[in-house]
This record gives sequence, C-alpha cells and structure tokens, in this order.
Amino acid sequence: MVQPTLEETKEMGKITVNGQSLDLPVITGSENEQAVDISKLRGKTGFITMDPGLGNSGSCTSAITFLDGERGILRYRGYSIEQLAESATYTEVAYLLIYGELPSKTQLDTFSKKLSAHQELPAGLEKIFDALPAGIHPMAALSIVTESLSGFYPKLTNPALSKEEMDEVIVTLMGIFPALTAACYRKSKGLPLIAPRKDLSYGANYLTMAFGLPAGKNAPDEVMVQAFRQLLILHADHEQNCSTSTVRVVGSSRANGFASVASGINALWGPLHGGANQAVIEMLEQIQKSGGEFSKYLAMAKDKNSTFRLMGFGHRVYKNFDPRSRIIKVACDKVLAKMGIKDPTLDLAKQLEAAALADDYFVARKLYPNVDFYSGIILRALGIPTEQFTVIFALGRLSGWLAHWKEMLESPEFRIVRPRQIYTGSTERPFVPLAARG
Ligand code: CMC
Repeated sequence: MVQPTLEETKEMGKITVNGQSLDLPVITGSENEQAVDISKLRGKTGFITMDPGLGNSGSCTSAITFLDGERGILRYRGYSIEQLAESATYTEVAYLLIYGELPSKTQLDTFSKKLSAHQELPAGLEKIFDALPAGIHPMAALSIVTESLSGFYPKLTNPALSKEEMDEVIVTLMGIFPALTAACYRKSKGLPLIAPRKDLSYGANYLTMAFGLPAGKNAPDEVMVQAFRQLLILHADHEQNCSTSTVRVVGSSRANGFASVASGINALWGPLHGGANQAVIEMLEQIQKSGGEFSKYLAMAKDKNSTFRLMGFGHRVYKNFDPRSRIIKVACDKVLAKMGIKDPTLDLAKQLEAAALADDYFVARKLYPNVDFYSGIILRALGIPTEQFTVIFALGRLSGWLAHWKEMLESPEFRIVRPRQIYTGSTERPFVPLAARG
C-alpha cells in the first residue's frame, strides 16, 4: 500500500492569520481522507492551532487501521472487521496488524511457536503479584506487572532496538499476555495459577488459565471460545484512540516497549475508554437495585448539572453506528440462546437501549451503543467477573498497541510527541517572601 507523502501531494490549502497567508500542503490518504499539514505554521506565522481533545488533529499517518465513523466502516490493513471476526483467528489478526499482511501457513506456525515459547511467566514475577495489596483492581495489577517486564528482560529495554530486538519485544509481550492477564484474576482471588497450554488457541488458553476448565472437559466450551475469539479481534485495534495514542506518545520518548504498553493499559482503564465495559454492567446493576426504573437514569444522563453519563453510549468517531457493536450484538444473542441464559440485567440492558435510541437527546447527538455496551453484556453472559472486563479489552488491544509502537519507531516521521499550549496563567510578577505573605 502506498502511503502519501508531503512531497507527492500537489494540492495546497491556504490559511490567513493576522493578514499573513501561508500555503499549506494537503495530505490525502489511501481512502481519500484529507488533512492540512500545519507543521510549518508556527515557524512561519508564530501561530499554533487549538484543538482540545484533539478531535480534528492528526498526529501521524498510519497504514494499520481505516475507520470511517460516518459510514460505520472499520478495516484492519484493508480487511473488513466483519470478515475478520467471521473467519480469522486472533493470532492471524495480530500478525496482520503488526506485520501488515495475513500470514502464510509457515509464517503463522513460526509466529505461534514464538508466542508459545514466551507463554510462561518468568521466574520471580509471581512474587510481584504476591506483593500487591489485596483487592487491587486487576488493571492496576496488569500495568504493574507489564512494567516489571522491563526488569525481567533488560536487554530489550535498549532505546535503539534492532529489528530483531523489536520483534523479540513483540513476541515476548504477545506470548506472555494470556498468562499475565489470567494471573491478574487468579491472584486477585487468591487462587493458584494454572499452567499455559500450547495446544489451545490464544483466547482458549487465556480462558483456561483464568477460569479453569468445565468439569470433565479438556478445553473451554466452544460457544465461549468462539465468542471470545470475536471479542479479541473486535478490540484488537481502533487507530488513534486514547490508549494507542498513549502508547505512541510514551514510545516517542524512546521509553521501552514494556513501559509504553503499561502506559496504554493505564489509559485504557478509564471509564470513558476501555473501562466503560465494566461501568456498563455496574450502571445496569445500580439501576436494577433501585427498582429497574431507568427513566430516572436517562433523565440524569441528559441533565447538564449531573456528571452521570449513559455508559456504553456515544463515541468520538462513530456518529451512525459502531460496526463492532453490531457484530457483538449478534454474537451476544447467539451466546444467550445457546447457553439458555435468562438474566434480568440483560433484559434491562435491551430496554434501556431501546429507550435511549428513541429519545430525542440521544438521537440529536448521534449517541448510539458502542462496543463496550455489548461487550460488557456478552462477557457477563459468559460468566466472566465484571472486574476482568477491561483486562480482556487489554488482552485484545495488545496487538494494536504493538503494531502502532512498531510503525511509529520505524516511521521516517518519527519525532518525540511534544504538543504546544496557550498559557492562560498569571503574567510575570515578583516573588513575595513567606514572611510578607501573611
Ligand atoms: N450520555 C449522555 N450524554 C452524552 C454521552 C453519554 N454517554 N456521550 C456524549 N454525550 C453528550 C455530551 O454531553 C455532549 O452533549 P452537548 O453537546 O449537549 O454538550 C454531546 O453528547 C457530545 O459529547 P462529547 O463529550 O463532546 O463527546 P466526546 O467525543 O468528547 O466523548 C465519549 C465520547 C465516548 C467519551 C462519550 O460519548 C462518553 O462519555 N460515553 C460514555 C462512556 C463510554 O461508553 N465510553 C466507551 C467508548 S467506546 C470504547 C472505546 O473505543 O474507548
């Protein structure tokens, strides 16, 4: 795929500030998305641009994921999320995101073997879990143990990694993550760890290590494995979202790959981002406890004097529908039917969704259920404890973080991320000694 460069772009934009005009190159992506390149703006005019929340600012070019929020399109390296969720394994998708092409059989075998070679926790890491306070949130534990890998693999923390070393960081993290995320659950419950299995898929291995096997079975339930495979694929990448941008920002200082991913885990934890899947279920449980009357919560979500938001609704880029949530919704119905589950919380979720979708406030603001609304519901149906939901998002998102980390470090655009600001504080004033301050 040809990435447009500034030199190849003929079209120009123009900006006039303070009577001074400047021609600005226009960058066109492979799906005809367009950007005005303002990188020379401050040098030529003294002005910077202002875009709180960065909703209109591109921070890089990227060949990994294409997203069209208006049309509800999401593609990894050109392949539609619908086809990947239907037919690919998570390991294939991870390879695709990181290395740019679907793997051949040999490439996939080699990649899978490398991941298997790293699937055990390094000796001594379990002690870090044991030192954590009881009841610590699994996302906090995950970021701590991920960061600690810098100490277990010191040779991979070199700021100038060779291509081979970068690959080693990638397969180390991808290989260990199922065991690491599973241990976050086992340790939080004081349960003994379960050894990884080389014969299971990426997701099935996690499910086995985290929750054990159903009585008399040698593998997790297939309905669960398939739904889980889809969840991991749907969460694998989402271009410049908050956590991925964090991984890029931290990595841009040449902090090592483990530290960069640990930062992404922290960004993901927030309830406006990946933490929303846990928040959705907690909100539904709260509504249920208070008698199931959700109209009061809808009113609160609309009230500008309240900080309450309808969790699992709204998205910065999807203004029509979230294609991931459509796929999960279908999967969710299948899982509920196949497992014969009747859960009043899930019924409440459906009623709440229908009421919000018919409400003028949500319609006018184009607020639709996002991926976290249904992923919370499906994870609950699969019997996964609520506190683990965001950890599972991280397990899926790891491949996207690593793909972006690698792309950024290898890009000719590479530069430390260092935004500007407009200062609004006090102008210069003389220091007042403590005695004179009263
Ligand atoms: N409930 C009630 N009102 C909302 C909601 C919501 N969930 N989301 C947005 N709004 C309103 C908001 O108050 C604003 O109204 P007004 O124009 O009157 O001031 C308008 O809609 C636009 O919202 P915004 O805050 O400017 O939108 P944003 O792009 O900055 O925020 C969001 C996006 C996802 C953080 C936000 O929609 C939200 O807080 N949703 C709930 C949390 C959630 O489900 N997050 C998971 C996102 S999907 C997973 C991922 O990719 O991270």
